[in-house]
Amino acid sequence: MTLHTLMTNYQQRVDTKLDLYLPSTKIHPHRLHEAMRYSIFNGGKRIRPLLVYLTGKALNVEETSLDAPSCAVELIHAYSLVHDDLPAMDDDDLRRGKPSCHKAFDEATAILAGDALQSLAFDVLSHNSKMIKTLAVAIGSRGMVGGQAIDIAAIGQSLNIAELENMHIHKTGALIRASVKMGALASQTIDENLLNKLDHYAKCIGLAFQIKDDILDIEANTETLGKTQGSDFANDKVTYPSLLGLNGAKQMATELIEDAINSLNELDHKADPLRWMANYILNRNY
Ligand code: IPE
Ligand code: IPE
Ligand code: MG
Ligand code: MG
Ligand code: MG
Repeated sequence: MTLHTLMTNYQQRVDTKLDLYLPSTKIHPHRLHEAMRYSIFNGGKRIRPLLVYLTGKALNVEETSLDAPSCAVELIHAYSLVHDDLPAMDDDDLRRGKPSCHKAFDEATAILAGDALQSLAFDVLSHNSKMIKTLAVAIGSRGMVGGQAIDIAAIGQSLNIAELENMHIHKTGALIRASVKMGALASQTIDENLLNKLDHYAKCIGLAFQIKDDILDIEANTETLGKTQGSDFANDKVTYPSLLGLNGAKQMATELIEDAINSLNELDHKADPLRWMANYILNRNY
């Protein structure tokens, strides 16, 4: 089994489940449901659901116990992108190669679609209070949304490395960390030590993920990215390349991925896909 095959299989699996959870466009209010579905089924890589599945599988968890958290993290991710692209935020017109939600629909519908995607994530998880708590803390004012607030406040400012790291850990790292944690929480037998090791893995790949996103914003092109290249520069964003230079940013991402893989040393071959994922995060081209 290669990572590519695993990715394709789990992308299909999570899409099938998401289709069951999302209200049909035949249900009133039609336009809202259309916008929600548009923002989910527009070609995301599904990295966060994949992390839920791969963490669970490394710990011998049944896939059926991983479907709900996988859907929940992608619903949250999609909501965060819809809001991230709004004119008041990054003002981006292109997402996953298609018009952003507020361009395909309108701003009010995009705001409401994001809100509704977020509620649906918690509805999907409502049988598991530990997972609800994990996700709620990860995406709130002391997690993802807090990170987005720091990002917006930093426009045109200069941050030091510690402040930039703090921003990235929150705006992107927190949800990635929650994805791994929820995969681990689905195991009935996991011990504290292993949970900490997996958490360290997730922290490292989460930060590396956003550093790579910042690098791609400079090095990739709009067509491959599916979002407007150069958006960070145009918006005067503080990024790793803007502080450390491209090579410094690449070096840091590489070291974080090594650190991530080392923290999985106690896990057997069933954790190999998590190791592959770490490398994929570093080497992806969109
Ligand atoms: C992009 O995330 C937004 C960030 C948090 C940096 P992804 O690169 O996972 O986006 P999709 O889901 O594949 O479109
Ligand atoms: C997005 O970061 C983080 C969240 C949506 C929480 P970016 O603004 O860098 O993401 P892209 O580059 O627009 O995908
Ligand atoms: Mg942003
Ligand atoms: Mg953005
Ligand atoms: Mg970006």
